[in-house]
Amino acid sequence: MSAKVNFHSSATDSSTTRIPDVRVEDSQTVVIFGGTGDLTRRKLLPALYAMDVEGRLPERLQVVAFGRRDYTHETFREEMREEISRFQRVEGSEEQLTAFVQRIDYFKGELDEDDSFRRLRVDLDDEKRYPPNRVFYLSVAPAFFEPVTEKLTQAGLIYPPDEPVWSRVVIEKPFGRDFDSARALNHHILRLLDESQVYRIDHYLGKETVQNILSFRFANTIFEPVFKSAYVDHIQVTASETVGMESGRGAYFDTAGSMRDMMQNHILQLLCLVTMEPPSGFSSDAVRNEKVKVLQSIRVPKLDDVRKQVVRAQYAAGQLKGKNVPAYVNEDRVPGDSRTETFVAAKFFIDNWRWSGVPIYLRTGKRMARKQTSITVQFKKPPMELFRTVECENDVCDLTHSRPNLLTFRIQPDEGISLHFATKRPSMHMVVEDSELDFNYAENYQGTLPEAYERLLMDVMRGDATLFMRSDEVDAAWRIMDPILRAWRERDARIPLHFYAPGTWGPIAADELFDHELHGWQNV
Ligand code: BG6
Repeated sequence: MSAKVNFHSSATDSSTTRIPDVRVEDSQTVVIFGGTGDLTRRKLLPALYAMDVEGRLPERLQVVAFGRRDYTHETFREEMREEISRFQRVEGSEEQLTAFVQRIDYFKGELDEDDSFRRLRVDLDDEKRYPPNRVFYLSVAPAFFEPVTEKLTQAGLIYPPDEPVWSRVVIEKPFGRDFDSARALNHHILRLLDESQVYRIDHYLGKETVQNILSFRFANTIFEPVFKSAYVDHIQVTASETVGMESGRGAYFDTAGSMRDMMQNHILQLLCLVTMEPPSGFSSDAVRNEKVKVLQSIRVPKLDDVRKQVVRAQYAAGQLKGKNVPAYVNEDRVPGDSRTETFVAAKFFIDNWRWSGVPIYLRTGKRMARKQTSITVQFKKPPMELFRTVECENDVCDLTHSRPNLLTFRIQPDEGISLHFATKRPSMHMVVEDSELDFNYAENYQGTLPEAYERLLMDVMRGDATLFMRSDEVDAAWRIMDPILRAWRERDARIPLHFYAPGTWGPIAADELFDHELHGWQNV
């Protein structure tokens, strides 16, 4: 049995508290490479539109969608108008949508052709139409990261970093496919651009609930002192999804797998935020310095650790939400003999003063029981179990039903934070049971939460790199993953690929990472 108490935020009655609105001040041109792609339609343009409706864009902002297909400005705007209506978070008026699409131009070009970049330069030099500050958003396949940055520089589209006008380059994931390729890519990019001009995106950092981890930890006094090995039994992070390989995603996913697609970036970033030391301030470098230190302290697994502490699996055919779904290997654009993992679970350790000896469990997978991204901090049991037993019928009964204290950040869906603690159930006995304090975003704040891409685009446009990954962070994250990927590649036969049924929480082997019966994955 568990009692539940909700609690409400008291601080944000917007009618009484006037929080200054954040808006982008600098006029600018945003060039999107991959301008006809899925991310542009589903995320980037709807995010810019939401910012426009909310009055966050500068008066002069022009978007240039760079793509290979044949469109005129008008036909492209018409199509994007429909896409924005489909994917918008914030509903504006017809006039607002008409005004917004007028900010979008189409540019037909080839990503690997010098001439396209020369023509782009000629267009962008028209300062009457295109404000000189420039964001270049690389929403393209990773194979194009190097050629596009090279051609941008050759065409003179990047200003030196110390000029009053600025240029910024946003790079989507995946950033490299292992340590060496990420290093080489960083090396290439930093030969052409200054680190201050580079924005490596991890969209999880743009989620409200992810940023809230930092305020929860560092704007309160009562939790931070117990975030350490003396009190914490273990930490676990789950990012499960029900989606499979819809819309031809298999072609990309099969070259990546869950380790590269989710664990190396999103999940490690979540782990950093929940375990990092308090930064000396909220500047981009202060925050990123602390995140790098955590990544550098994660114990790099040896071959034997990979066997014992990392579980990989692939989904078989089965049923999900009452529908038949194919096995991964029978998905569209996935090779029939693929051994790519669609699930991974791992146990890590952070070898630093604060977290020494505290196991960290991480898991992610496709086609699982439900969509859940959460972080749970499980605390140790009190040193002595005073309320374990009670006298009953001239004997002693075991009453140990209380769970350890659990603090859970529900990143998505049902965004919120909950804390489990023990309370006495009213009775003549000393019966202890589990209760829950729950904070829920939907109940406390009106409207939808801003999309991650709104926040991240706004930060790029304002020049704030706090929520973007620095080159040393990327290196440090790959350093942890590299031996695992190598072991899987080289010792395939000795490290099994497990299988799991769709709609489950993955293979049993993932449960066996826990070495104590009181421990296990929290399916919140
Ligand atoms: C992307 C991955 O980065 O994140 C996808 O490439 C995954 O495979 C997605 O589905 C999950 O993002 P979200 O925001 O829906 O949790």
